[in-house]
Amino acid sequence: MVSLTGADIATHNTKDSCWVIVHGKAYDVTEFLPEHPGGQKIILKYAGKDATKEFDPIHPSDTLDKYLPASKHLGPVDMGSVEKAETEEVIDEDERARLTRVSLMPPLSQCYNLLDFEDVARQTMRKAAWAYYSSGADDEITLRENHAAYHRIWFRPRILVDVENVDISTTMLGSKSSVPFYITATALGKLGNPEGEVVLTRAGYREGVIQMIPTLASCSFDEIVDAKQGDQVQWLQLYVNKDREITRKIVQHAESRGCKSLWITVDAPQLGRREKDMRSKYDEQAAEVQDEGTVDRSQGAARAISSFIDPSLSWKDIPWFKSITKMPIVLKGVQSAEDAIKAVEYGVDAILLSNHGGRQLDFAKSAIEMLVEVMAALKAKGYDNKIEVYVDGGVRRGTDILKAICLGAKGVGIGRPFLYAMSTYGESGVVRAIQLLKDELEMNMRLIGAQKLADLNSTFVDTSSITAHSATPRDNLSEQAYQKMITPPFLKNKL
Ligand code: LAC
Repeated sequence: MVSLTGADIATHNTKDSCWVIVHGKAYDVTEFLPEHPGGQKIILKYAGKDATKEFDPIHPSDTLDKYLPASKHLGPVDMGSVEKAETEEVIDEDERARLTRVSLMPPLSQCYNLLDFEDVARQTMRKAAWAYYSSGADDEITLRENHAAYHRIWFRPRILVDVENVDISTTMLGSKSSVPFYITATALGKLGNPEGEVVLTRAGYREGVIQMIPTLASCSFDEIVDAKQGDQVQWLQLYVNKDREITRKIVQHAESRGCKSLWITVDAPQLGRREKDMRSKYDEQAAEVQDEGTVDRSQGAARAISSFIDPSLSWKDIPWFKSITKMPIVLKGVQSAEDAIKAVEYGVDAILLSNHGGRQLDFAKSAIEMLVEVMAALKAKGYDNKIEVYVDGGVRRGTDILKAICLGAKGVGIGRPFLYAMSTYGESGVVRAIQLLKDELEMNMRLIGAQKLADLNSTFVDTSSITAHSATPRDNLSEQAYQKMITPPFLKNKL
C-alpha cells in the first residue's frame, strides 16, 4: 500500500472532511465527529494532524478498530513527511521546575511508606495527571476524612502470643491472595505512566496481589489480560452502559478471558465534580480557540469519556446481571447499612463499602466508619456470613488494613497509592509499595498478637470514637507545634 503523506492529510482539516493520524496511520473521522464522547472540538484541534499524543492516555489501543468502520481506516502515513506538531505544552517556569525535580527524584529506597510516593508524585507528575488522580469531590472533605477516620480507631493488642510465624495470606471471592488487599480499579493509567495499567498487572503478579481491571483503563481490556502471568487473578470493574448489549458483551468477554469476579460500580450515576481537576483543565485550554463543542471539556477527561454510564441503573437490574454471568457479583460503592441488607436480599456475593475515593458525594462517610454500622446491621439480621464485605478509600498503612480486617472486612482496595508509585518509579515503585505494606502488615500482626488474619476480630480494636467527625480534621495550633515527619528529600545534584 502506498503511504499517505503529511500533505494529503493536512488538507482534511475541517468539520466537513476531518482526517487524523494516530500511531502512523490515517483515519477519516468526519462522520464520527458528532458521536465522539469527548466532543468534536478536541478532534478538530487535531484535524489534518498527528493526534497520537492526545489520543493515547484516554483511548485503549483497540478503540479505533471498535468504533470506526474499516472503510475509514485510510492506511499508513509516511511520517517523515508529516510536519512535527507544534509543542503542545508551553514549557513555562513551573514545568521547567517540575522537570528539574524529575531529574533529582529521591532514590526509590528512600520511600518508606505509601505517603512518600504520594509526595514524590505531587512534585514530579505532570500537572494534569496529578490533578486528575489526586482530586476529590467539592471541598474534598470526604477525601481527607477517608484517611482521617482510620485515626479514630485504636488497637487492643494481645500479648504473649507465639508470633514467630505470621500469615497474612487470605482468600477473596474464592481466589487466593498473598495479602488482604488488592489493586483497585482506577481510570486512565497512561496519564501517569506511558505503559498504563499493565505496569500494575506485572507488579501484582510479582507480589501475588489481585488486580481489578477498570472499564475506563487507558490500556485495552485484552492488553491488561494478556499481561497476566501464571495463575494471576484479575477482577473486572464495570461501568454499566445505557446499551445493555454492550455491557453484556463486556461482562461475558471478561468471564471468557478468566476474570474471577464482577464489581459493578453503583456510586457514580454521574461523575462527581473534581474542582482541582477542572481548574487544571481550564489552565490548559485557556489558549484554545473558542468553539461550540457539545461537551464541555473543562469538566475533565473522565467526565467526557464516561457519558455512556447509565444513570437509570437500579436494583431491578441485578437479576439480569446474575443471568448473564457466573462470576460472583459485587456491588462497588455501597454506603449504608440499608443497602448492605438489600444487597444480601438481592443475592449478590459481596459488597464494597466505598465512596469512590472521595470523588463522588462529598460528605459521604468513610468506608471504615460505615463498616462498623454495616457489620452490626448484617449481624442483627443473621446475614453476616452470607456476604463478603470489602472497604476502600484512605488506606495508607498496614495498620489501616488490619483495622478493617478486625472489623469484619474480607479485604481492602488500594487505588491512588499504587498509581502514584507507578507514576514515579514504574513497576519497581509498585512492587516496593506492596512490599512496604507487607512488611507493615507482618510486623503489626506480631505487635497486635495475631498469627493469622482469621485470629483478628472486633475485640482487637476500640472504635468508640469512630463517629466523632470534624469537618476540619486539623488543629492549626498543634499542627504548627508538631515537628512534621519528613518526606524523601530530593537530591541536590544528579547521582
Ligand atoms: C473517576 C472514575 C472514572 O473517579 O472512576 O474518575
